[in-house]
Amino acid sequence: MPAQLNSPKDLFLFELAYMHAFEQNNVQTLQQLIQEVASEEAKAPLQHHLEETREQVQLLAQLFQTLGEQPQQVTVHATQGLKQDHDAVAAMKPSPEVLTLFDLGAAAKVEHMEVACYTSLVTKAQQMGQTEVANVLQRILKQEQDAVRELEAAAVRLGQQVATT
Ligand SMILES: [Fe+2]
Repeated sequence: MPAQLNSPKDLFLFELAYMHAFEQNNVQTLQQLIQEVASEEAKAPLQHHLEETREQVQLLAQLFQTLGEQPQQVTVHATQGLKQDHDAVAAMKPSPEVLTLFDLGAAAKVEHMEVACYTSLVTKAQQMGQTEVANVLQRILKQEQDAVRELEAAAVRLGQQVATT
């Protein structure tokens, strides 16, 4: 049974647990995308963010320790939906280059969502007076913003290469 959300703090802890689960899913998603994409140029930003994501899972677990709380079990429905979207595109038999372009865009979409989630968590942590927690979340937020830029830059470069072949 999910815990009841009776207070803004309960909501914060739920959303923190959501991100802890989401990032664990993203370790798997990024590993799958690295296998699937067709060029080293596309693999590089995915690999870089995979390493950051593994660290983020640890950082989020440490935040629960800092707060003296346990992360509750959360199902991230977004991951399932995004996987279904991916599989629907893959079923349309794109060329390896087109699938790679799709995968970079899909990874960027995930990071955009994470930016929104962490922006909200930073605000909530600040409002609760949890400065140390807010600072860690701010650091993760910055990594997500950088990941969006790297993934989008790789998609632009690859798109130009594909357009000229
Ligand atoms: Fe991320």
